[in-house]
Amino acid sequence: MSQEKVFPEPTVLISSEKIDRRIDELAAQLDRDYADTDGLVCVGVLKGSVFFLVDLLQRVTVPVEIDFFQTSSYGGTTSPGEVRIRKDIEVSIRGRDVLLVEDIVDTGYTLRTILDLLRFRGARSVRLCALLDKAATREVVVPIDYCGFQIDNVFVVGYGLDYDERYRNLTYIGVLEG
Ligand code: IMP
Repeated sequence: MSQEKVFPEPTVLISSEKIDRRIDELAAQLDRDYADTDGLVCVGVLKGSVFFLVDLLQRVTVPVEIDFFQTSSYGGTTSPGEVRIRKDIEVSIRGRDVLLVEDIVDTGYTLRTILDLLRFRGARSVRLCALLDKAATREVVVPIDYCGFQIDNVFVVGYGLDYDERYRNLTYIGVLEG
């Protein structure tokens, strides 16, 4: 017998209006901080960061280049926190100012891996901009230079974040109960 998956209605944690206002603030801060540079290489992590990255970068006025990583975590018998790069960036970052844009920092393993890689490749500077910081579940240290919102240890969906590939296109951040 086939088992129907259940996708309950999330409860609103952060409204679209609140997200919108915070992104305005973050974009203004980026414009100030990178005003004297020759522009930024913005690197998103697929797929969750896409909505945030687009809305953020439409509001900054410093020149930007955009590229994407895609990662997955090893499961099964491999060690926890081992992150695999499934899609690499194509742009050269040697000597460039890089801004890594991510939806959420949870354990921190994904971003720790990517930050190390970007630095190893000779970026002039690497900073992290994350929409959500779930600090209670952090397992490795990942400094967040630009943070949208701190959240508790809850499973969130929407605005790029998914549960089983659903909910990414919600305009708000919601919590899935249970
Ligand atoms: P980390 O390596 O544990 O920090 O995991 C980061 C990734 O896990 C994020 O890019 C998300 O794809 C996923 N993730 C972590 N927490 C949540 C959540 O509450 N909802 C949806 N995805 C999450």
